[in-house]
Amino acid sequence: MSDKVKVAVLVSGGGTNLQALIDKEKSGELAESKIVRVIASKDTAYALQRAADAGIETSVAKTQEEVLRQLEECGAELVVLAGYMSVLAPEVIEKFRNRIINIHPSLIPKYCGKGFYGMRVHRAVIEAGEKESGATVHFVDEGVDTGKIILQETVPVMEGDSPEDLAARVLETEHRILAEGLNKVVLRYKQGGIK
Ligand code: GAR
Repeated sequence: MSDKVKVAVLVSGGGTNLQALIDKEKSGELAESKIVRVIASKDTAYALQRAADAGIETSVAKTQEEVLRQLEECGAELVVLAGYMSVLAPEVIEKFRNRIINIHPSLIPKYCGKGFYGMRVHRAVIEAGEKESGATVHFVDEGVDTGKIILQETVPVMEGDSPEDLAARVLETEHRILAEGLNKVVLRYKQGGIK
């Protein structure tokens, strides 16, 4: 029996963050954990294809009851939200207290919360004339993007950037710090530091 920590990844879209985790698991950079299931909020999410290509079990959960049931069914110990665009129900958060992490494409507390997700974040950052943005890995609590920060890194906004340009630059950082953040939480979990 492997003593790797079982991780479920929740997705809604293209899944480049999921891909980064898959690649890092393969290259041994996520040595203490294993992705046991990818759960999508909709069956059209390309992330499902990425998971299937990597031989990872997949499922689609259209309601929060289904999310909870599927998380329990696959034996997930930790949960990663990687471009998951639904808000988790309090029941899910309660069951996985301090065991759910999220990647957000801004420097929380800026450009986060209700209405700030995906490309909307980058558009708002550029419209505000910010000189820097970034990415944040944080724990998920009952609020939207309000949980304790695990890791955060800044990314420069360049003159003339389109939202897509900025998104691509921020994604590179996301891919790195999501894996680092996951490793940190996995380690704490294994040491019994997460109750
Ligand atoms: C990522 O930028 C992620 O941080 C963001 O959606 C994108 C998903 O990309 N998440 C949020 O905005 C959540 N509030 P991906 O599907 O290629 O990983």
